[in-house]
Amino acid sequence: MSAPPKPQFSASFLWGASTSAYQIEGAAQEDGRGPSIWDTRCRIEGKVADGGTGDVACDHYHRYAEDIGLMRELGIGAYRFSVAWPRVLPFGRGEVNEKGLDFYDRLIDGLMEAGIEPWLCLYHWDLPQALHELGGWMSRDSAGWFADYTALVARRYGDRVKRWATFNEFNVFTMFGYAIDWAAPGITDRAAHLKAIHHVNLAHGDGVGVLRTLVPDASVGAIHNVQPVLPETDTPEDVAAAALLDEHWNLVFADPHLLGRYPPQTAIAMEPYAQAGDMARICQPLDWLGVNHYGPIFARADPAATWGYGWGSARDDVPSVDIGWTIHPDAFRQTLLAVSRRYGVPVYVTENGCGDPTGAIDDIGRVLFLDAYIRAMGQAMDEGADVRGYFVWSLLDNFEWGAGYTTRFGLIYVDFETLERIPKTSAGWYAALARSGRLPEPGRAG
Ligand code: FCB
Repeated sequence: MSAPPKPQFSASFLWGASTSAYQIEGAAQEDGRGPSIWDTRCRIEGKVADGGTGDVACDHYHRYAEDIGLMRELGIGAYRFSVAWPRVLPFGRGEVNEKGLDFYDRLIDGLMEAGIEPWLCLYHWDLPQALHELGGWMSRDSAGWFADYTALVARRYGDRVKRWATFNEFNVFTMFGYAIDWAAPGITDRAAHLKAIHHVNLAHGDGVGVLRTLVPDASVGAIHNVQPVLPETDTPEDVAAAALLDEHWNLVFADPHLLGRYPPQTAIAMEPYAQAGDMARICQPLDWLGVNHYGPIFARADPAATWGYGWGSARDDVPSVDIGWTIHPDAFRQTLLAVSRRYGVPVYVTENGCGDPTGAIDDIGRVLFLDAYIRAMGQAMDEGADVRGYFVWSLLDNFEWGAGYTTRFGLIYVDFETLERIPKTSAGWYAALARSGRLPEPGRAG
């Protein structure tokens, strides 16, 4: 298939970069931060490649000013980061950690001085361990804990931060945390998964309500990982596995948030946990929807798995990045169109990028990946998708969850021994794109 033509993006199209707290901040035991479920998971043997942890990560907690300087050189208009709930509320509720709140004051002020709009995500997977011990997302009380945490953060930063996201990738942390043991807290149980889905939805709705009250001029959205789910083969078993995985992956959050209903199989399964009035709490008007996209997922029947679905392999000869994620820009075009049509709200691509284990600074492979995906996004826009901005994952090489430090997603290389930062070829290329709204020739930017 020939590549779509080079799009020209308008001057108002937003170019940004994304990170998350646990993946970059480090300073895990500093200035009163409490432990999160990921601190706990990293200490369980075999859960993270090479025993990696977020204890130091990129040490962004201390080097944020340098990182803002690098963002300024990139010329990006916006930076998406997350607040670490256990840094500001070490036990998840109750006692407030002023030093933790001060850190995000410094970060936000620095961004604003650099002319970079802060996009604040409230939850990127680091639930305070103390709340997990009270049942975490399996407890209906979690919606109230989240609303209180949202109120604290909104009161503190709402004067400066106008772009708010409730959660990052609802599907990933609920499925991998409560149905498949690939993320914290590593539970594998249908009821736990269903409760987590529903309570996170309630937390989202309540959080939106708090933001509307406390930051009336806020632009509020939520961030979803959306990928087409395809059966590995055409057998009825694989087709059924793909249908259920598609519900759990793509529909059980955005549908209730924006359409006010669960998809069919989940609506039935959720009956024991949903109460009268819940859907009205969950379904709150949103200003935008964030799409994180990497590549299609292939499903296969796996009778031993919690829900009978497992991860299959790509059907055809689709090339993939090192962690097995397929490179399929046209799936990105399709996803953006589908989401834009289904939900009818403006879309921001809040993550897209590729991992590379080699650590190459001349990362031409990443440039080619981004070029292909951004062309596909331009094509989706020409076909009617209402996409308003694009955030690359990620600003910096960082702690990649279960893969630890074995793969690198950054535009900027981080030496994890010395913590030195070195902009890669992709950083110069992305800076040229952010300046002009036009895709530079791969290899000649910088
Ligand atoms: C997404 C996560 C992000 C990062 C990228 C590679 O699923 O939101 O934190 O790990 O994948």
